[in-house]
Amino acid sequence: MRVGIIGASGYVGGELLRILLNHKDVVVTFATSKQYKYEPIHRVHPNLRSVSDLKFSEPNLDKMTSGCDFVFVAAPHGSAVKYVPSLLESGLRIVDMSADFRLKDPQAYVHWYRLNHPNPELLKVATFGVPEIYSQEIKGARLVSNPGCMAITSILAIAPFAKSGVIDLEHIVVDAKIGSSGGGTKPTMGTHHSERYGVVRPYKPVDHRHTAEIEQEVSRLAGREVRISMTPHAVNIVRGILCTVHCFTERKLESAEVWRILRSFYQNAPFVRFVKDKKGLSRYPDPKILSGSNFCDIGFELDERLNRLLLLSSTDNLVKGAAGNGVQCMNLMLGYDERSGLEFPGLHPI
Ligand SMILES: NC(=O)c1ccc[n+]([C@@H]2O[C@H](COP(=O)([O-])OP(=O)(O)OC[C@H]3O[C@@H](n4cnc5c(N)ncnc54)[C@H](OP(=O)(O)O)[C@@H]3O)[C@@H](O)[C@H]2O)c1
Repeated sequence: MRVGIIGASGYVGGELLRILLNHKDVVVTFATSKQYKYEPIHRVHPNLRSVSDLKFSEPNLDKMTSGCDFVFVAAPHGSAVKYVPSLLESGLRIVDMSADFRLKDPQAYVHWYRLNHPNPELLKVATFGVPEIYSQEIKGARLVSNPGCMAITSILAIAPFAKSGVIDLEHIVVDAKIGSSGGGTKPTMGTHHSERYGVVRPYKPVDHRHTAEIEQEVSRLAGREVRISMTPHAVNIVRGILCTVHCFTERKLESAEVWRILRSFYQNAPFVRFVKDKKGLSRYPDPKILSGSNFCDIGFELDERLNRLLLLSSTDNLVKGAAGNGVQCMNLMLGYDERSGLEFPGLHPI
């Protein structure tokens, strides 16, 4: 299968290259970057030196449609809409990493992105790319919209409990911590080393855009409209997300019931692990040991005094939060083993 990547010089594009160049069933034939056209990919992704002699090229739809069977779009939001309709018309199957097709309601784009969506009809065509929830839909999809990194990390924690109906759907609080690569390669004042180093900085503490995706998906699972309180914080790591999710229950919940709900929801989910140990180093999910891996680690604690179910979920924002999850979706779409190319278990120590 010939695979192309639009936006291959970014952080997500780099991770797509790293994973796909080692994937036994695909060949990367196209990697686009306007800034770095004709340059070898290791100019931007030095970890890929000698892994491939691929060079960046300009995004050219004609060349892509004749030279690829499958395309990842890893461009900033607002740009994927320029490529996806033509790529679909040419019969290519697509995983879009941007936010352009994540929300089902065109009006939600006006509210959250100040965007009058130019292709509202495609919002129905796109499948929201959470393999742990939509594996059957993803298998048949022509267009998969990969979730936001903090969104998928939160959704994977909340989903089993929203579906089982044991939590108070009026009061779900997501406190997210995220590393600097979440902001992509483009430098800004806030990402400048001297300003970013050492911070624990809340940003967009209300109305962060990923809230819209979490609300959409939790509402679908719960069968009613749900509102989520979400606050992200920029922290002093390069990769990684930790979501601390506070849920409340009307009755006392037993640990065994929480385990039963988690295990039954994730019985066929090779990349979800439960982390809740009484001994050892990692007793709860820890983004540090997930760097480069496609796992989402989920743990919990019960606060009996407050009837609070505390959920902890962690991912590498560039892997399970982006490229790795995208490849997992591709594997399902193309009938490959869901785990193909994604076996890397992360590093320890790091
Ligand atoms: N970073 C994360 O943790 C993360 C997680 C989940 C999802 N995402 C999403 O994934 C996408 C890529 O994120 P990123 O962090 O990799 O961003 P990034 O580092 O800024 O990279 C963006 C890439 O898109 C290309 N590009 C920019 N404008 C373009 C256009 N108009 N047409 C085609 N290509 C264009 C850039 O290369 P040239 O300008 O040289 O062409 C670059 O290769 C974004 O939509 C982002 O929201 C990111």
